[in-house]
Amino acid sequence: MTLKIAVLPGDGIGTEIVREALKVFEALRDRHGLEISWQEALIGGAGFDEAGSPLPEETLALARDSDAVLLGAVGGPKWEPLDKPLRPEAGLLGIRAELELFANYRPVKVHRQLIGASTLKPEVIDGVDILVVRELVSGIYFGQPRGIETLADGQQRGINTLVYTTSEIERIGRKAFEAARLRSGRVCSVDKANVLECTEFWRQVVTKLHQEEYSDIELSHMYVDNAAMQLIRNPKQFDVIVTTNMFGDILSDEASMLTGSIGMLPSASIGEKYAMYEPIHGSAPDIAGQNLANPLATILSVAMMLRFSLNRPDLADRVEGAVDRVLSDGIRTADLAAGGASCVSCSEMGDAVCDRLED
Ligand code: IPM
Ligand code: MG
Repeated sequence: MTLKIAVLPGDGIGTEIVREALKVFEALRDRHGLEISWQEALIGGAGFDEAGSPLPEETLALARDSDAVLLGAVGGPKWEPLDKPLRPEAGLLGIRAELELFANYRPVKVHRQLIGASTLKPEVIDGVDILVVRELVSGIYFGQPRGIETLADGQQRGINTLVYTTSEIERIGRKAFEAARLRSGRVCSVDKANVLECTEFWRQVVTKLHQEEYSDIELSHMYVDNAAMQLIRNPKQFDVIVTTNMFGDILSDEASMLTGSIGMLPSASIGEKYAMYEPIHGSAPDIAGQNLANPLATILSVAMMLRFSLNRPDLADRVEGAVDRVLSDGIRTADLAAGGASCVSCSEMGDAVCDRLED
């Protein structure tokens, strides 16, 4: 049976990086027997421009009818003046919520070849291998009430609500503990339990789940401010980090710089029925349309898709191996090239990966 992939390039560099990921699909199909077909659909600002919605119905239907979804990025200054529900971000948050993609896996692995590309000292980052497990469909991103309202005295007030239920915490906690079982067996749950009741509750639920079902795993808790500091001070202390939607958003951007560039971090957003694969970076409007972006985060997201949704760990290894060889051969996009070193374009990077799939 041919596997069906929904491809949602989105906005900005989204279209460029996804094009390179599709070259990898083509190579795997034509040269490595992967039975795969894909169809593109609109999301984000592109969805608004062409279909009047950042998440057109056809896009959602296609995603539901596919074995996996590949997403580029959404957003850009052009759409900032729009009403909130029409903005590109509403499309991304909408598809995550509609498909109930509650677990977002963001692996932070330092490639030896890129140690010089990081702003941190080599001895601090050499060997870093962290998995950030971010809750993706609840928390302050989705809590009600929310909005901007005008008060009786004419002042305005902005409101968001941080809220988690027992089952929402348990299901993400389980995913983190299970991931840790396949790694070095340690989970650090990140919260702000000293101030926020919602995350005090998060800590209680994670602790109880650990005692009842996962006592073989080593569990620690850390406040988010300390975690942000420890990630830079001594990142090797972490194995699996499990945290809320917003803390995960922030800490994963921070952690990406351990690897040299946010352009290196793939992710998998997984629910009970569906899965979507997306680089963690955004649409980078400043470099969009210039063939400058780093497509490796998207290509590595394809590897995650092969492993987790398409049941082809052999091909996932092949793609990751090709990326590794590209880096060993010194091929760098601008974000990775230290101090004026020569670099390749987005499309050349995609070609370079495809050229090395055979080795
Ligand atoms: C991410 C992004 C998104 C998020 C934005 C684009 C809505 O920053 O995937 O990390 O905040 O989740
Ligand atoms: Mg983010």
